[in-house]
Amino acid sequence: MITFRNDFCLKPFNTFGIPVIASRFAAISKVEHLRWLYQNGEFVGQEILILSEGSNVLFTKDFGGLVLHNEMWGMSVEEERSEHVLLKVNAGESWSHLVEHAVKQGWGGIENLALIPGKVGAAPIQNIGAYGSEVKDVIMSVEAFDMQTGQTVSFSHEACRFGYRSSFFKTLGKGRYFVTSVLIKLNKKPTINITYGPLQKAFSGRSNVTIADIYDEVVNVRQSKLPDPDKLANAGSFFKNPVIDKEQAEEFLIDHLDAPHYPQLNGQVKLAAGWLIEQCGWKGVREGDVGVHHNQALVLVNYGHASGQQVFDFAQKIIQSVHDKMEVTLEPEVNII
Ligand code: FAD
Ligand code: EPU
Repeated sequence: MITFRNDFCLKPFNTFGIPVIASRFAAISKVEHLRWLYQNGEFVGQEILILSEGSNVLFTKDFGGLVLHNEMWGMSVEEERSEHVLLKVNAGESWSHLVEHAVKQGWGGIENLALIPGKVGAAPIQNIGAYGSEVKDVIMSVEAFDMQTGQTVSFSHEACRFGYRSSFFKTLGKGRYFVTSVLIKLNKKPTINITYGPLQKAFSGRSNVTIADIYDEVVNVRQSKLPDPDKLANAGSFFKNPVIDKEQAEEFLIDHLDAPHYPQLNGQVKLAAGWLIEQCGWKGVREGDVGVHHNQALVLVNYGHASGQQVFDFAQKIIQSVHDKMEVTLEPEVNII
């Protein structure tokens, strides 16, 4: 059985701290809860929103449907060999606790993803990434409940169609699947990844760098750059870094010689949205209770009482300004609801 709460305030359930009301809210701690909802027709005729930690969402108005709060705890070692370990982690586990646990065990592969807020079930949705790693690098498969058919489905790594801040679950499969667990492969003889600029710099000339060193460094850098949502409400990077065609990039770079840019394997070029926003004069700007963070222009913040619509309108102004001045179109990374 499931307990439904009616007219439930979501303020504590989103890191932007937006006080919208959900018509109905239910905690989901096991797959049987989803089966029960399916059998009772709850997935038909009403909007469903899966909410994990709410660190990548912006609510712009009250939600008239049913919010399913992901509370599926637990993890187990599925296989352990001399080289690797396969971990099945349920969707409600904290991502950052998982990273901490893995580093303590000496299991490598996710140390560069330290301190990313959110739950494990949300990690594959946008293929979380930071400091030269993405979660796709360790995901073997994803298990999900299909809310259309009532079946449990296992998605292979390929079927997840991971891309930069994207996956099948954020595109074609959006809204249909509740991710219930993720199978990840960690390395007991870890490969060190310090290709990302700030890590390269921090460890230059050092040998014997360990995954614990990387973990500590990533935590330091993140704490110095990104606002802690418990102290200043935000959802991390509000926009994705734009990926543009080679020809457009060549033209762009003639006019903006100092723009940070990252050539991609397919020839396209990724630009730094934070740099673009800063060049357009937005860094540190505050309008009412919405603002652009003073250390990281990619992060929009709620100083206290901003509504979701105000944050959204402010983001639109930034998109327009970057488009007018730089001829580049920014897209939100955050899920607008
Ligand atoms: P939520 O915000 O609750 O949900 C995000 C989306 O996934 C929603 O569309 C939701 O419906 C869907 N969803 C959630 N759970 C499930 C599920 N079980 N099944 C199906 N759909 C689901 N992200 C990065 O990639 N890299 C970073 O470095 C990074 N840094 C951040 C720093 C800060 C300070 C903050 C606040 C955010 C940052 N983020 C970063 C964004 C965020 O942490 C990630 O996107 C995270 O994976 C979101 O997890 P969540 O549990 O909060 O998901
Ligand atoms: N930059 C500026 N001004 C700013 C911010 C950045 O000029 O205000 C420049 C930096 O100097 C650097 C470049 O932009 O040359 C890239 O900056 P940074 O390394 O800080 O990374 P980012 O592109 O701003 C991305 C991710 C973050 C992730 C970091 C570290 C996206 C949308 N964001 O930010 O992810 O933590 O790299 O890997 O890809 C998130 O997705 O929520 C998130 C925080």
